Amino acid sequence: MARDHFATRLGFVLAAAGSAVGLGNIWKFPFMAGQNGGGAFLVLYLGFVLTIGLSVMLAEFTVGRAAQRNPVGAFRQLGGGVWPVAGFMGVAAGFVILSFYSVVGGWTIAYAIKALTGGLSASDPQVLGAAFGAFISEPVGVIGFHALFMVLTVWIVLGGIQGGIERAARVLMPLLAILVVILAVRAVTLPGADKGLQFFLAPDWSKVTWDTVNAALGQAFFSLSLGMGAMLTYASYLQRSADLPKTAVQVTLMDTGFAVIAGLMVLPAVFAFGFDAGAGPGLTFITLPAVFAQMPAGTVFAFLFFALLAIAALTSAVSILEPVVAYLIDERGIGRRTATLGMGAVIWLLGLPSALSLGPWKDVTIAKVLSLGPDWAEVNLVHKDILGAMDYLASNIMLPAGGVIIALFVGWAVSERAVREASAEGGGAFPLAGLWIFICRFVAPAAVLWVLINGL
Ligand code: TRP
Repeated sequence: MARDHFATRLGFVLAAAGSAVGLGNIWKFPFMAGQNGGGAFLVLYLGFVLTIGLSVMLAEFTVGRAAQRNPVGAFRQLGGGVWPVAGFMGVAAGFVILSFYSVVGGWTIAYAIKALTGGLSASDPQVLGAAFGAFISEPVGVIGFHALFMVLTVWIVLGGIQGGIERAARVLMPLLAILVVILAVRAVTLPGADKGLQFFLAPDWSKVTWDTVNAALGQAFFSLSLGMGAMLTYASYLQRSADLPKTAVQVTLMDTGFAVIAGLMVLPAVFAFGFDAGAGPGLTFITLPAVFAQMPAGTVFAFLFFALLAIAALTSAVSILEPVVAYLIDERGIGRRTATLGMGAVIWLLGLPSALSLGPWKDVTIAKVLSLGPDWAEVNLVHKDILGAMDYLASNIMLPAGGVIIALFVGWAVSERAVREASAEGGGAFPLAGLWIFICRFVAPAAVLWVLINGL
């Protein structure tokens, strides 16, 4: 059967940007920056994005388009040998990521509804913090919205590539961009916001540890949707004519732009209202309602913001589920419908512990369940709540590892083919091919392994 394809390059750019821009930018980036020293985190993050991130994205694009297959099939076809293992790792990472992503996606839907029903109209930090805490510890609601988010994701993936993804991204992404800019302007002009600006934009290197570096690297992979084959899979639906390096640069800049503006939207407000920058996953949900309360028609902004964020999260979630489904369709001969419904259900179940983890199970960690002793004191993964542990496992271990393998694959196993694929059809050769291959061969693997070894 002929593969579904993106109609235009613009469609592909929007879908790839729709994948990249999501909760990672607006929910995760501000709280990670808040927990990891602000400005220093920002600089490290930008450094990783522009070197390793951009190179790995182009690697995924070229491999996907060259193979016209899912992650496992692409490695099998172009490389053979043990390379397909990387594809399986990617599919596994998709399970882990979507399980908790859908939980947070559910929060955004719930908050959009709360905004409509007037449930967010407080400006007192204490009250807003307590409201988030109360919401998160009530399992039925959280699990229900997690289910709703997953149903919507499955529904879009069932529609196939052009029907669902391309159309949604085209209209809604620009709207979200406008809204985030408006909110950032409001936040930056709040009295007392300057301390937040200072925190976010002036690096304090004395606070940097290996954990900071590791967090920034993981955030770069997560935010750009790299390391599990999502971008690879999208590029497999691309026709030969698109200019891949240009596309990678555009998607990366768009994604980074969203993250930086989201930082400007959340962190100055955190300081202006006296919230705790290190508050973790609740930060965006606790801080922004206070900003809305300071705006004319705040309720309208609140609703629009959380609704658009939910949609941005959906276009990302779709790109996490699609590689898993594409694998089952291409390699296992399972129908799209069965594959999508089945995987949606399994991943929803896998997400239940995360759904409970900020509420009833907030003290459950691997270390406690297994009664790990003081030998484990330095291992981050085992001390996090379940949602945090899932995120950490995916973002800080699986995605960087997957990224290294795809970089090595492009750098060593298929470099000629990849360079040809990166050169525009009919256009000239890709002028930075030498630098790109050099980064894939040496810089990205060495840097990522170095961070992983020191950071874990
Ligand atoms: N990048 C998305 C975000 O920032 C999340 C995401 C979508 C993702 N597809 C991915 C993360 C693939 C890792 C791998 O919200």
